[in-house]
Amino acid sequence: MDGNGRWANTRGLPRTDGHREGEATLMDVIAGALEIGVSELSAYAFSTENWKRSPAEVRYILGFSRQILREQRDDLNAWGVRVRWVGREGRLWKSVLSELRAAEELTKDNRKLTFNLCINYGGKAEIADAMARIAADVADGLLKPSSVNDQLIQRYLYAPDMADVDLFIRTGGEQRTSNFLMWESAYAEMYFSDLLWPDFDRLALWRACSEFAGRDRRYGGAVDRVATTEPRVWAPEEYDDPDA
Ligand code: IPE
Ligand code: MG
Repeated sequence: MDGNGRWANTRGLPRTDGHREGEATLMDVIAGALEIGVSELSAYAFSTENWKRSPAEVRYILGFSRQILREQRDDLNAWGVRVRWVGREGRLWKSVLSELRAAEELTKDNRKLTFNLCINYGGKAEIADAMARIAADVADGLLKPSSVNDQLIQRYLYAPDMADVDLFIRTGGEQRTSNFLMWESAYAEMYFSDLLWPDFDRLALWRACSEFAGRDRRYGGAVDRVATTEPRVWAPEEYDDPDA
């Protein structure tokens, strides 16, 4: 959700006004996701790196997130949305955490759409936190180093049952992922929109989804369109070094 500050500043308004304007976009995008049957949506509201901003802006974003949770949780609940916080506890305000917990508790049985609200989230922080817990379990003898693989790492992430990201949308014109869902986005389709977040809406989401639907996802695989007689499944020994 990038571009709030620029949206406000180009109108001669303080950056915080842009964050306020972004709330309506977020609710419209959630409604639009529900309308087209999206089952999981994640929003990057505050990163572990956003602490570099001025205290006034950090306080505004955290306080505003807390207020949105309180004011929108009944609507989200009525819409069948399950709210889930994804992030690191660390410096996150206790009052924001308790509002997140309240929204999670209220909406925990909803199944239409899971909304991952990423606050005090960083992709590297998430992987580092997972590694620390894996190392602790190895040290306690609960885990063998040889059992660490990508499925196991997934189980140590903040939201182990979060699906891999299919479509990764960044607004605001920047062509970078800024430490969002690094592990989960390994095979995500990237979509960069020049719209500033307050100018984004459900139609823009649908446009992105429609482009996504036309993408060819191969996950590292390949199909030779010329040699059509090639078998689709090969025996493991066919991958051995022929010169060995
Ligand atoms: C919102 O946009 C993203 C948040 C961190 C809340 P920005 O605050 O990054 O706005 P720009 O990129 O400076 O315009
Ligand atoms: Mg930005």
